[in-house]
Amino acid sequence: MISGLAPRGQRPWWRDAVTYQIYIRSFADSNGDGIGDIGGIRSKLGYLEKLGIDAIWITPWYPSPQRDHGYDVADYLDIEPDYGGLKEGELLIREAHELGMKVIIDIVPNHTSDQHRWFQGALNSQPGSSERDRYIFRQGKGVNGELPPNNWQAVFGGPAWKRVIESDGRAGQWYLHLFAQEQPDLNWENSEVVRHFEDILKFWLDKGVDGFRIDVAHGLFKESGLPDIRRSWIERIFGRSNLTRMLSPEHKPFWDQEGVHQVYRSWRKILDSYPGDRMAVAEAWVSPASRIARYVRSDEIQNSFNFEMLTSLWKADEIRKRINNSISALAEVGAPTSWVFNNHDVVRSLDRLDLGLANHGDTTFSRQGDGSRLDIARGTLRAKSATLMALALPGCTYLYQGEELGLPEVRDIPEDRLTDPRWKMSNYADRGRDGCRVPIPWKSSPRGAFGFSNDENLTAEQAWLPPSPWWGEYSAESQEDDPNSTLNFYRKALAIRKNEPGLGDGPMEWIDAGGQVVAFSRAGGFACYINFGKEIALPKGSPVLHSSGPLSENFLPTDTAVWLREKK
Ligand code: GLC
Repeated sequence: MISGLAPRGQRPWWRDAVTYQIYIRSFADSNGDGIGDIGGIRSKLGYLEKLGIDAIWITPWYPSPQRDHGYDVADYLDIEPDYGGLKEGELLIREAHELGMKVIIDIVPNHTSDQHRWFQGALNSQPGSSERDRYIFRQGKGVNGELPPNNWQAVFGGPAWKRVIESDGRAGQWYLHLFAQEQPDLNWENSEVVRHFEDILKFWLDKGVDGFRIDVAHGLFKESGLPDIRRSWIERIFGRSNLTRMLSPEHKPFWDQEGVHQVYRSWRKILDSYPGDRMAVAEAWVSPASRIARYVRSDEIQNSFNFEMLTSLWKADEIRKRINNSISALAEVGAPTSWVFNNHDVVRSLDRLDLGLANHGDTTFSRQGDGSRLDIARGTLRAKSATLMALALPGCTYLYQGEELGLPEVRDIPEDRLTDPRWKMSNYADRGRDGCRVPIPWKSSPRGAFGFSNDENLTAEQAWLPPSPWWGEYSAESQEDDPNSTLNFYRKALAIRKNEPGLGDGPMEWIDAGGQVVAFSRAGGFACYINFGKEIALPKGSPVLHSSGPLSENFLPTDTAVWLREKK
């Protein structure tokens, strides 16, 4: 029992919320330029209200050269003109609030764009200058400084350092970029950096946003002296992609350093100085769960993504273990846990849960293979079952646009249309993340790139990332009135969750239903069963509230999940 937890509705909204992630470029295009925008989001607020989510999280909407689709920010105090500009953003915040939805925006503190005025200033200044000190510039190794300062690798591939040309025309210092070279890492030991981000938070809080999703929240501080990564570690992980290596749990001198916590303590004070339970959620790829818990201690931020399910196999014992670990680690600090099965960085759950994971979780992140082994029906069923599980478990849930339409990963984007920097930086070995970022099919006809754009003359090829010819099969339009559609499955699940006082944060009890079944109950006689093995009999006389697939009388088939009202 979690002591002192107020009833739902009387406790902060973020303890229970279902947040819907909007990848702004791909959500809806209101002006026919083939790029999603704020006008597009505004036009779909009715859809989101009907879906039944509590909050939206919008991926970075700042002015940006879009080298990493907005995660390379050129100005944190404005909105990209292609997305509609600041005024339109303010309108969206107001309209979402009128419909009772909270608005979370992305903040990117680990790095800026190389086009940010600070970085341009640093390039035009001397080594040792205050301009350079906002970033991580170092002399190279070797006789003439021709070797990078250390052996760190960029998450997207290749070395994490780039050498600059100094004002005398000679090759000079190197700067650190843990991601693309257009994303130089900031120096968080610099007080100007610290202060600027505090001002950024206040700027957006004043505009009414309810929270922030903190990009790479675990990366801000680097171990002093920037030591090489240990050889033993490199050997152990030999054969894995840069991405998996960089995100794997082994200790690294650039992730999860103590300094980050001071930043979040001061951000918490800022959030708390505003009315209305403003919050932040950390994207922190750290493990084990006890390390994540440190970000959500009572004087730090409120929430962290729980990525445990992104690298889990579709196996009962593994899922049970991950649930236990996640909940117990966060209970220690009194924070609610969260559940994430999809986001804009990983292979869509439909594919992942069906195909399984290979090579230390590489398939969570990379789209190798043509997907010919994929069983769409089974993948869809598993993804829907995972959703019922996530929505019934204690805490909050993050959904990603398109999962409510049952979208699979798109594997047939032509190579010359791939845009993720990982494609190039991996030397064309890794197709990157475009396959889960294809524009949403609102309509069945290919006009307007399947209704992505409200300009019907826009063709699929003209969308910034082209949908494949088969994309219309998954359209929202085709699912709207079909009672068996994935869309209506999500709507029903979210409506039930809203009215079940025992769901969201709070206690759960395990139910023993055999080794192949994950089953648990929540307050108010609510129970959830997910069957990973052969068909099982459900408890008699317990009315079914919802299920991820058809039930045969009182039997729960393989891969299926059910919500029940338990018999008294
Ligand atoms: C985060 C984002 C990802 C981005 C990276 C660099 O992991 O989710 O999309 O590429 O940070 O900002």
